[in-house]
Amino acid sequence: MAPKVLRVGGVVRPPGDKSISHRAVMLAALARGKSELSGLLTGDDVKSSARVLRQLGAEISRIQESGVWVSGSRLQAPGSRLHCGNSGTTARLMLGILAGQKFAATLTGDASLRRRPMRRVTEPLKQMGADIKERGDGLPLTIRGGKLRGLTYSSPVASAQVKSAILFAGLTGQVPVTITEPYRSRDHTERLFAHLGLGIHERNGAISYQPSALSIPSFNVSVPGDISSAAFMVAAAVLAEGGELLVENVGVNPTRTGVLVVLKRMGAHVERINLRDEGGEPVADLFVRPAALSGTEVSAAEIPTLVDEVPVLAVLASRARGSTVFREVGELRVKESNRLELIAANLRGLGVRAQVLGNDLQVEGTEKAPRGRVETAKDHRLAMAFAVLGTVDGANVKLSEQKSVAVSYPEFFRDLDRIYARRTTHDAR
Ligand code: S3P
Repeated sequence: MAPKVLRVGGVVRPPGDKSISHRAVMLAALARGKSELSGLLTGDDVKSSARVLRQLGAEISRIQESGVWVSGSRLQAPGSRLHCGNSGTTARLMLGILAGQKFAATLTGDASLRRRPMRRVTEPLKQMGADIKERGDGLPLTIRGGKLRGLTYSSPVASAQVKSAILFAGLTGQVPVTITEPYRSRDHTERLFAHLGLGIHERNGAISYQPSALSIPSFNVSVPGDISSAAFMVAAAVLAEGGELLVENVGVNPTRTGVLVVLKRMGAHVERINLRDEGGEPVADLFVRPAALSGTEVSAAEIPTLVDEVPVLAVLASRARGSTVFREVGELRVKESNRLELIAANLRGLGVRAQVLGNDLQVEGTEKAPRGRVETAKDHRLAMAFAVLGTVDGANVKLSEQKSVAVSYPEFFRDLDRIYARRTTHDAR
């Protein structure tokens, strides 16, 4: 049988940005009056935030991409535990919101989320005066908010979730907060605060929120597509053997575009066209052509700008000429799975040389077709990254499961099929 030549083609639109969707729903629930949000991610994680906010008294219509309305009000004590599902962003940002509320609430989550560290958030919130009862460094835990004091905090990790939790605590507790972090993490919270006229500013890398007497106004916002989801389609197009792909409506906030910077260094052709602004966030369409890649070094300073794209970049590195190293990616051990070990182990299982050295990840490129089984550990980004690897010629990649993609990209497999000009089967399915 002649080898199949994988040609990509057409146009694809990634789902709404997960980080912005969480923040928009949360801020709308805190605002006075009715807000309209369009382009929201309909994935499970955002549904977790909406469910928790409804338990706290917010009225939120069904989460759909075309539009969601949120009627904000004063939050009320929940009747039962707040289940955050698989979503670290829900748990950590809600802790910030709850720190300023005069009632107790217990948060929990699925087995993956219960294993993830929460002290990075509970420590600063306790310093602000929140009363938090925790059994270890994780969920379940009970928070009783109330009267808070201001905080100046130097975070040991570059984490937008930590930063945002503190900003939300400042907002709901009406106290000033200032945060510095080792490297700048994604700044969607800051941008939304600025968009709503809330007192936020940055000086020499320190982010400060200064409360004003005003309540949060209701707002309308259109959420751009998620670059972290777009990255999988971009990667599939880069690995194809011909054609071109347009990925429309992608958020290109510079705190998130590290994947594009690294792809360019590796030799990929990804052009940003039709640059525009949506609710304080830069948005573009990405025009992608297949390319031969070479290995690169991804520095520690770049990691926060591509932290969720390491799985897909590692997969691309396995198809590049030479070796690639990702410096200081220890944080990947505490994502939805131990992503660091699982990326390396799964690549090895497919015949790729990959190893974890301290906190660095090294991947050697190969031309051999990847063949074998991938353990996703129900981690959506591992499932999608390895499904993309399963599209290369001669590949036979079997995923342990596929359902986890619903967390951030429910239509992932449909889109992956669609982008091939000539329909092909990819063995990952
Ligand atoms: C997120 C921040 C990042 C990222 C996660 C979403 C956010 O986590 O990995 O997918 O929306 O703030 P950390 O804050 O733990 O780096």
